[in-house]
Amino acid sequence: MTTKVILVRDGFESREELQQAAEIIRSGGLVVFPTETVYGLGGDATNEHSAEKIYAAKGRPSDNPLIIHIATPEGAEPYAETSEAYYRLAKAFMPGPLTVILPRKQTIPLRTTGGLDTVAVRCPSHPVARELIKAAGVPIAAPSANLSGKPSPTCARHVIEDLSGRVDMILDGGDSEIGLESTIVSLNGNSATLLRPGAITADALRCVCDDVTVAPAVLEQLAENERPLSPGMKYKHYAPSVPFVLLRGDSRKVLSFLQKEQQSKNCAILCYHEEMEALENKNVIDIGKSENLDEQARRLFTALRDADKPGVDVIYGHLPTTDGIGLALYNRMLRAAAHTIVEV
Ligand code: TXA
Ligand code: MG
Repeated sequence: MTTKVILVRDGFESREELQQAAEIIRSGGLVVFPTETVYGLGGDATNEHSAEKIYAAKGRPSDNPLIIHIATPEGAEPYAETSEAYYRLAKAFMPGPLTVILPRKQTIPLRTTGGLDTVAVRCPSHPVARELIKAAGVPIAAPSANLSGKPSPTCARHVIEDLSGRVDMILDGGDSEIGLESTIVSLNGNSATLLRPGAITADALRCVCDDVTVAPAVLEQLAENERPLSPGMKYKHYAPSVPFVLLRGDSRKVLSFLQKEQQSKNCAILCYHEEMEALENKNVIDIGKSENLDEQARRLFTALRDADKPGVDVIYGHLPTTDGIGLALYNRMLRAAAHTIVEV
């Protein structure tokens, strides 16, 4: 399959390009599109063959359900049982990086939801994503547009590395604004369970929901045979091909540990901006200022891809705080590191 790549940095340049992308979706093909979180690998959510193609293109187990993307919060009506709590969340956070799990209607095939009776609904804020969903006239099922096991893509280069020849079209919208996948919540009345942390933080959710509980799998490793609330939690994720080790401890001690490691090992380091000068300029990747969690979130997945290259035997990073969007960073880094934390 030849993959057509189209630049959409300031939106679709012509009606024809938008119609062409929408037509691919409607006729059962696959279009990668930018969102404010990460790039999505999109197909018609109402077509089970599209879901099958998505799983095949990603190399993803087909019991891991897909998120359906809609253009407006009301756009969920034909596909999910909405509730007052859903509309409260929608009013506060949609369009934006929030996904809500709702009971599924029959219009969404079981293939799309990985056999579940619930469906994940998200209304993205990226203008290209919204235009595409509207023009397609169907909800777009889209997992992150990476090969299964790789970090989610935050620019078209990552998508091309992973999916060139496996999808019909890639819409290149430049760098993702947030860089980590959407917050996922499930609802029980007006109480929410946070299944995956993201840019909509637990505290932000607490302003709208009566009660917000963080699912245990967000912070801890699932026990063998434990059934997660969100199937995605059981898969090894974002794992570099060499060990990724998170360091915890006093910042000066961590820096001198890293300096020593550079002398004795072929290591790559995801370091804070202010540490750059103190480290040898060899496989050192600036993930942003230590205080700037948004910047670290934006750069993490690119940094993990860039660090994971031939000749590197181990990758080091800092264990982030769990405040605000830090919880999302912590969750992604912990999983990439398979929970390997070293106390320095
Ligand atoms: O920001 C995002 O959410 C991106 C962009 C493309 O929108 N999408 C994304 O999709 O991250 P994906 O497939 O990589 O992650 C979706 C997660 C999976 O962990 C899956 O298990 C969970 O959502 N999920 C989907 N449907 C679910 C459901 N009905 N119940 C529980 N979890 C669900
Ligand atoms: Mg993913």
